[in-house]
Amino acid sequence: MMISAKNSTPNFLWGAATSSHQVEGYNDKNDWWAWEALGKIERGERSGPATDHWNRFRADLKLAADLGLNSYRFSVEWSRLEPQEGCWDAEAFDWYFELIQECEQLGLVPMLTLYHFTLPLWVAEQGGMSSERFPEWFVRFTRKVVERLGSRVSLWCTINEPMVVTVGSYLGKFMPPAVCEPEKARLACYHLLKSHVLAYDLIHRELPKSQSRWSEIPVQVGIAHNVIDFVPDRSWSLIERWLAEQIHQFYNMSWLDAVTGRGQRFSFPLLMAQAPVVAEAQGRVTADYLGINYYTRARVRFTPTLSGLPVDIGFGREGEQVSDVGWPVYPQGFQKLLSIAGKYQLPIYITENGIADHDDDLRPAYLRDHLREIVVARQSGVDVRGYYHWSLLDNFEWVKGFEPRFGLFKVDYTNFERTATRSARLYQEIIAQHRALGGLAQNLGDLEGFLEGLSTGA
Ligand code: BGC
Repeated sequence: MMISAKNSTPNFLWGAATSSHQVEGYNDKNDWWAWEALGKIERGERSGPATDHWNRFRADLKLAADLGLNSYRFSVEWSRLEPQEGCWDAEAFDWYFELIQECEQLGLVPMLTLYHFTLPLWVAEQGGMSSERFPEWFVRFTRKVVERLGSRVSLWCTINEPMVVTVGSYLGKFMPPAVCEPEKARLACYHLLKSHVLAYDLIHRELPKSQSRWSEIPVQVGIAHNVIDFVPDRSWSLIERWLAEQIHQFYNMSWLDAVTGRGQRFSFPLLMAQAPVVAEAQGRVTADYLGINYYTRARVRFTPTLSGLPVDIGFGREGEQVSDVGWPVYPQGFQKLLSIAGKYQLPIYITENGIADHDDDLRPAYLRDHLREIVVARQSGVDVRGYYHWSLLDNFEWVKGFEPRFGLFKVDYTNFERTATRSARLYQEIIAQHRALGGLAQNLGDLEGFLEGLSTGA
């Protein structure tokens, strides 16, 4: 069915998100694949065929569209597109082109992420994000993606969770190359910001307008930024309050400030010296929207020690409702961080929000309660324009392997069958209700009463 472009422009994006390495399968030319082969993943797992999305993408997108979604966030796999430096794989580009076309046919506005945690091995072997050549490699890659796929894409996310990938790779050791070298973390902050800004400018220069079915959606470029509600473990402890604030500034605020031209404060007391300033980003807003990924809160504890940082970041507590990976369910933190993000006066997309919940016991209420926080935030003037649930499908959850189940659709890894969870049905119902209310962005507020009364069976 052809719908005229005008009628089909969605005013609130209801979506789900995935990333290439977590779903596609056999991304064997990137740094994660190599790291997995070293036995670094829990239970010795490896991503292997992942969810076989490479072969099943049409059916997967159909599942998304049948829920009533009107957008889909995915990432392109750099190591497939440029498996060797300067060698481009035309077939891989064609596959993404087909995926984007399929999205269009199904009424799903594509949001394309350029870099979601995985690097081509050739990039990683030359120093990855800590290499001074990183921005040049990234921009060359961006240029190719824009040339080959760009005409049909309005929504761009340059980097998924630049802070998480920096911390995971160079401080916390939970992503390759899994070292603790603050100097590399410092350089990564600089190179990632520079890469983002150069890509931001390039996309806007080369793509004044998208030619997709939704050509009236302006080209928008941003990052997806992970935020966590950091609180002192013991609220009476001055040092823990101070530490929680330092971590909040570093982890939550530094990227938001940097892409809105409010300063580049990439440093952490006693750990990481100030990163060099990216001249191209100074005093400029280099994001058309803020992508917010919110999952949980964390407690900051002062742990005096003779070596290393005297701080421990913990998640759940005895008796608290937590996900299968131990993250507390805490929608209030979402509200707090949304109101902080709202102060930047940019449109906001919730680029990820979800829960690891094998039996789908907690997810229905989690979904309802986090959506309610969005409604409340919008009522107080925070310009949230879309919500992407993480994730469309169960998938390869990085160092934790396949055990955590984040999907709206369950995946049976013996035959790759997908089954809708109760949450998927609930999400479908909420979206339908929103449309019934007129489907206008300003009417999102009317959803509140509906969400309030919605039984999640929990
Ligand atoms: C990442 C996803 C990940 C999710 C759940 C986010 O930090 O962008 O790739 O699967 O969190 O851990």
